[in-house]
Amino acid sequence: MDVDDIRAEALGAVDSASDPATLDHVRVRYLGRNGRLTLLVRSLRSLDPSERPAAGARINTAKETVSQAIDARLQALTTEQLARALDEEVVDVTLPGRRQSPGSLHPVTQTLRRIEDIFLGAGYEVVTGPEIEDDYHNFEALNLPEHHPARTMWDTFYLEDGHLLRTHTSPVQVRVMERTRPPIRIICPGRVFRRESDLTHTSMFHQVEGLVVDEGISFTDLKGTVVEFVRRFYDKDVGVRFRPSYFPFTEPSAEVDAQCVHCEGAGCRVCSFTGWVEVMGCGMVHPNVLEMSGIDPERYTGFAFGFGADRLAAFYFGVDDLRLFFDNDVRFLSQF
Ligand code: DAH
Repeated sequence: MDVDDIRAEALGAVDSASDPATLDHVRVRYLGRNGRLTLLVRSLRSLDPSERPAAGARINTAKETVSQAIDARLQALTTEQLARALDEEVVDVTLPGRRQSPGSLHPVTQTLRRIEDIFLGAGYEVVTGPEIEDDYHNFEALNLPEHHPARTMWDTFYLEDGHLLRTHTSPVQVRVMERTRPPIRIICPGRVFRRESDLTHTSMFHQVEGLVVDEGISFTDLKGTVVEFVRRFYDKDVGVRFRPSYFPFTEPSAEVDAQCVHCEGAGCRVCSFTGWVEVMGCGMVHPNVLEMSGIDPERYTGFAFGFGADRLAAFYFGVDDLRLFFDNDVRFLSQF
């Protein structure tokens, strides 16, 4: 084959090489140790000495041309590759960055803090007690002896060793009365546990217990305190009503309803279309309860109340499924 044909073929191969590796193969095939142009140089030996210089010069020119073509092509391919990479890996500096989303207090925590602030402002002390209780403090000392039928008001989780998960925060008032003397003015926030779960009940929820014991405490004090609390909590002059009720640890006992703040009493989903929501139980501390904890019921009287903080949070925020508070779905929680 003639040197011009080989050169033309090599230049064609250079042109159609689409990446540096293929180009390298082309270089080896034509200019390598056994490359076609290299072998041509060796074949000069078979020529007449007078023809060798001219033939050699032609081959060298061809080698030079092919080598330059390869270099030029390599340069072009590299530039092209770089341009493509820059194009594909482009960073959109206008995209918003990944920010850290700030956390916030759980709606029930916010509610508990609101409640505590209101009572702290009225001179109450905030006291806590154990979540694992004994039968004595959870029932017995609250005038609920063994086999008392009212024990069925609380679906209790019993532990194997005879202890139980407190069903209300009332045992904390017993613990406080056992160790302090009147005047007593406390609220006891905390978790309580019951064997029940549906739209309006969760097996764990939060209660706030209140207790005031002193000389001359009457139902009037209870009523004024509860009405003032409810209005401060809702930050509104809502209607409040007392209905006679029964709790073994108070006598007389009452249940307190507040006007539904969502429909202003007209009736809606939050208040089950009654216009009122039940907010707490309360009453005058039963003399037996005072006496069992070592306080003289002839000298002292007291009132107590207890309510579900989660229920209040639900009414306050207009949530109609209590379970949402504990599913911990951030899409729900981030709304507060
Ligand atoms: N412990 C009651 C309950 O869990 C609530 C309650 C009612 C507490 C009346 C009181 C009270 O202190 O006086 O249902």
